[in-house]
Amino acid sequence: MGILPGWGWLFLPVCQALVVPREVSGQIGETLSLRCWYPRGYESYNKYWCRGASRDSCRKVVETAGREVPRQHGRVSIQDSYIFCVVLLTVENLSKEDAGSYWCGVEKTGRDMMEPVTVKVIPGKPWCPAGWSLGREKTSSSPLTSSPGGPAMSTLVPSVVLLSLLAAAG
Ligand SMILES: *[C@@H]1O[C@H](CO)[C@@H](O)[C@H](O)[C@H]1NC(C)=O
Repeated sequence: MGILPGWGWLFLPVCQALVVPREVSGQIGETLSLRCWYPRGYESYNKYWCRGASRDSCRKVVETAGREVPRQHGRVSIQDSYIFCVVLLTVENLSKEDAGSYWCGVEKTGRDMMEPVTVKVIPGKPWCPAGWSLGREKTSSSPLTSSPGGPAMSTLVPSVVLLSLLAAAG
C-alpha cells in the first residue's frame, strides 16, 4: 500500500496526539489525499471525516468500522492503518463544491477527538487574475489632480503616484 511515501512522517509527533494538516489543497479533477494521525490506544476506535464549520454540527461524510478495510462513500474514502496510527482520507475527482471546512475525528466515549482541516480547491486551468483588467482600466482613466481628502483619495493617490513613477521609468 502506498500509504507512506518517504519518511517525513518520522518527524511528526506520531501516535501521540490527533495530528492533521491545517489546510490541504488540490486541483479540480485530481485526487486529494491527507493523513490524520491519532494517538496509540485508539487503534480500534472508529475514525471519521466530518464536513462543517462547527465540530458539534458537522455531518459525517465517511467513517471506518473498527477495521482496516477501506470504507467509501461516493468519491470519498477512508482507511485506517493501525501500525502507523494513521488514517488516510482521499477525495477523488475533486470539485469546487468540495472546498470548505472539515474535521478528522476519532469516536470515543465522552467528547470525540476532532481536529479541523480546511480544504482548498484550485481551478485546474490557469486563469486571468481579477486585478488585471482593473489595472488596465485605471491606466486609461484620466488622472485626478484636484480635491484632496475624501475616501476615494486614499486609494487613488497611491495608484496615481505609481503610474507617474512607471511613466517616468519607461
Ligand atoms: C468528475 O466530476 C465531474 C463533475 O464535477 C463529472 O462531470 C465527471 O464525469 C467526473 N469524472 C470522473 C472521472 O468521475
